[in-house]
Amino acid sequence: MSNNKITSHGQLPFFILTFILTFVMAPPHHVGSESRLASPSDQPYRTSFHFQVPKNWMNDPNGPMYYNGVYHFFYQHNPSGPLFHPRMYWGHSVSRDLINWTPLDPAFAPTEPFDINGCWSGSATILPGNKPVMLYTGLDTENCQVQNLAVPKDLSDPHLREWVKHTGNPIINVPDGIKHDDFRDPSTAWHADDGKWRIIVGSRREGTGMAFLYRSEDFVNWSMWESPLYEVAGSGIWECPDFFPVCVDSNNGVDTSVMNSRVKHVLKMAAFDCGRDYYLIGNYNPENEHFVPQSELTLGSLRYDYGKFYASKSFFDPVKNRRILMGWVNESDSDEDAHAKGWSGLQSFPRSIWLDQNQKQLVQWPIEEFKMLHENEVSFKNKSLEAGSLHEILGITASQADVNVSFKLTNLEEAEELDLSGIDPQVFCSEMDASKKGKFGPFGILALASHDLSEQTAISFRVYKNNGRYTVLMCSDQSRSSTRNGLDKTTYGAFVDIDPQQDEISLRTLIDHSIVESFGGGGKTCITARVYPTLAIGDEAHLFAFNYGTESVLISELSAWSVKKAHINIEETNGGAY
Ligand SMILES: *[C@@H]1O[C@H](CO)[C@@H](O)[C@H](O)[C@H]1NC(C)=O
Ligand SMILES: *[C@@H]1O[C@H](CO)[C@@H](O)[C@H](O)[C@H]1NC(C)=O
Ligand SMILES: *[C@@H]1O[C@H](CO)[C@@H](O)[C@H](O)[C@H]1NC(C)=O
Ligand SMILES: *[C@@H]1O[C@H](CO)[C@@H](O)[C@H](O)[C@H]1NC(C)=O
Repeated sequence: MSNNKITSHGQLPFFILTFILTFVMAPPHHVGSESRLASPSDQPYRTSFHFQVPKNWMNDPNGPMYYNGVYHFFYQHNPSGPLFHPRMYWGHSVSRDLINWTPLDPAFAPTEPFDINGCWSGSATILPGNKPVMLYTGLDTENCQVQNLAVPKDLSDPHLREWVKHTGNPIINVPDGIKHDDFRDPSTAWHADDGKWRIIVGSRREGTGMAFLYRSEDFVNWSMWESPLYEVAGSGIWECPDFFPVCVDSNNGVDTSVMNSRVKHVLKMAAFDCGRDYYLIGNYNPENEHFVPQSELTLGSLRYDYGKFYASKSFFDPVKNRRILMGWVNESDSDEDAHAKGWSGLQSFPRSIWLDQNQKQLVQWPIEEFKMLHENEVSFKNKSLEAGSLHEILGITASQADVNVSFKLTNLEEAEELDLSGIDPQVFCSEMDASKKGKFGPFGILALASHDLSEQTAISFRVYKNNGRYTVLMCSDQSRSSTRNGLDKTTYGAFVDIDPQQDEISLRTLIDHSIVESFGGGGKTCITARVYPTLAIGDEAHLFAFNYGTESVLISELSAWSVKKAHINIEETNGGAY
């Protein structure tokens, strides 16, 4: 038993139970938590602060933007059922704080010859004079993927409810030599000193994935540039490409058209064949349209998120000078489950995104507005987690929570020697599941755990050393997330580029009933998982900090909060939260 002093800064009494584990994870003695949640039995997997629709299917985020005091979010939506159908609509919601969202009627429906078979993904651009325009992919009468333009019908409507499709659509047709259904998802436009607008569109030629570049002076007449902005043999089709500048010396975001020596550029592609959002950081020259990334695109390249997260989109928020990212988080259950739930698909919690100080990767962090949903903070400092220990964190609603914890490792020289170069961290995490003891690790948290631990999602770290250098691995182990079968319980893993000799190992995890969204190393490595517990639901969910390694680790600080339910896409008679 540990006897370290624990301080509580919370308003509610806060207890920690310590258990020593011997061979198996013994079920903890259960101390009842206060009941604060309504019975979730009818819809245990609906979330409380993640963007989702009341019913039916949602996938890619579309055209996020800020306009005249209002954030707009659009999304791929099948209003007729909970499964994907190509005849997509653009769902539309608005918000003043990116937390609470008011639903509006779909912005686009498939009604015209140039989009009659579906209104697919696209992006917003704010033109000079504060005029939003939207580019999106239409599936035309022949199911060709063509690019279309639309503008708000009435700029004085604060909600921009109605959109007018340009009569000259499509404005861009499938390029010669490209298959009719391999050409989609126009990006936000940027312009350079020559006054020309540029966009990229995802495509492929044979197995070579690419982003075609188009230029225009008037946003209507677009000419394809002589070569793609970037292409990579063997990468398959790219969807939802995003291209934006990031500051080299600040965490602030900048508008998509900013170009100077203080920015680098990020090219993001959603690699359809593996369902992953990869990105490259590099230098962009608009004169010759050369984008030169710092590294090549490979299967091991940088990703926004190493779990379930795809087809994301970013936008510049001029209110707080930041770039915000949201991505589609798919389900991990079956089509039958989708019918039973009546809905499919979440969006990640909005994340601020910026270039790391080392300029080698991006960093992401939940937007600061999240704190308006915090309540019942519990926290403590300087708490040793002995080998094999498990500590329940009480006083919060563990199924709807935000946890922020920092681990400090002392006697690091005791770390296990292991050369992880060339190792796929996800495969490693799958083989070394959270029950397998190491020296430093696994330590971390157990989210959405049942009281007997038969259900748990472990987000954990392991630390190894090799030739005097340390490697930090982060895993999200879903293998015991539910006692149900027929779910995708893939374990995810990734490296965290920090030096544990200098930096503490931090973990922030957003837990929301069926989603566990984790930010390791201060947001350098993100892993999002979908889980469907049957026992650890509502008030029956528990949260633990654990250390199954043979070396003790120190929790230098832990804070956790219950998270209030946000008003998301709920029609309200009083005008709503919005
Ligand atoms: C479209 O732009 C191209 C390139 O700037 C130009 O050559 C062409 O004349 C334009 N077409 C129309 C219809 O304006
Ligand atoms: C979404 O998840 C379902 C269920 O796990 C899976 O069958 C489907 O392939 C996924 N779709 C994409 C595009 O990842
Ligand atoms: C942290 O806890 C240890 C005992 O585990 C104690 O010796 C040390 O003084 C504490 N440090 C701080 C900063 O409270
Ligand atoms: C989370 O913890 C880190 C490291 O201890 C700290 O810097 C950060 O301010 C914390 N964030 C929140 C929201 O508490």
